Amino acid sequence: MSAPGTLGLEGRTIIITGAARGIGLSAVERFADERCKILGFDLSGSDFTGVREITRRAGAEVITLEGDVSREADWSRAMDTALKTWGRLDILFNNAGISGPTLDLTRYPVDAFDRVMDVNVRGVFLGMQHAARHMKPLGRGVIINVSSISGSRGGGNIFGYTASKYAVNGMTQSAAVSLARHGVRVLAVCPCPTRTDMIYELERQVSPENPASARPGLAAGIPMKRYGEPHEIINLVAFLASDQAAFMTGALVPVDGGCLAD
Ligand SMILES: NC(=O)c1ccc[n+]([C@@H]2O[C@H](COP(=O)([O-])OP(=O)(O)OC[C@H]3O[C@@H](n4cnc5c(N)ncnc54)[C@H](O)[C@@H]3O)[C@@H](O)[C@H]2O)c1
Repeated sequence: MSAPGTLGLEGRTIIITGAARGIGLSAVERFADERCKILGFDLSGSDFTGVREITRRAGAEVITLEGDVSREADWSRAMDTALKTWGRLDILFNNAGISGPTLDLTRYPVDAFDRVMDVNVRGVFLGMQHAARHMKPLGRGVIINVSSISGSRGGGNIFGYTASKYAVNGMTQSAAVSLARHGVRVLAVCPCPTRTDMIYELERQVSPENPASARPGLAAGIPMKRYGEPHEIINLVAFLASDQAAFMTGALVPVDGGCLAD
């Protein structure tokens, strides 16, 4: 157990999916500062420059792995790499996700729906399954999934995304209950619009001519009237990953400027 007031994450090993950008990159930075050992997992062709800069600055132990979270073989490779390098995995941050299109139900393409479900649902399921196979016999571990406020309410014509985040919430609670007696905690964080490429893409979809003009309208729906910052999501993730949250499992925790209270 860490002392009260410290997270005590030093030396813990963590896989971070979607590590190259946005919330995942912010997680790399924070867990590097916490002196964790990190495997950053992102799509082939992703730019890992940000990860490498953080690694250099923090002097952290960071491995990068190119793969697709919806592919089982890539999860096997990620777990093999982590276990061969460190011998154990303490934390999985199951963060990679895509938003898919914003389109009226009657025009929403089925193949786009399928791809969102592949990445956001199958990807999260595979990550939990691979991590749990290792953590369950070990009797400890933490899995943190990234859901969204869209996992608790409709709206926005983002059908694949909404369906996928409801599924993430359900899988989080199911896994938490089944793994609780094995010492493995499973949680989800539920952000509102957060300042990353994902929300910039949404702005482009809402207002292709002038994406920035969509910002006040999108922010107006948030009681605190602004987007979240990636590090504000990661402050919660770091706490949940630590022993300070030892009695928390199965929680779907909003970090959303008051959205889900509204
Ligand atoms: N930004 C927001 O407004 C917001 C709000 C709520 C929830 N979220 C969730 O936060 C998570 C991270 O989103 P973000 O805002 O950082 O997005 P982002 O688009 O900035 O970054 C996502 C990262 O995931 C990677 N990725 C995408 N598909 C992948 C795959 N199949 N395999 C491996 N890596 C893949 C991308 O290459 C990218 O580096 C997602 O699950 C998203 O749904 C974001």
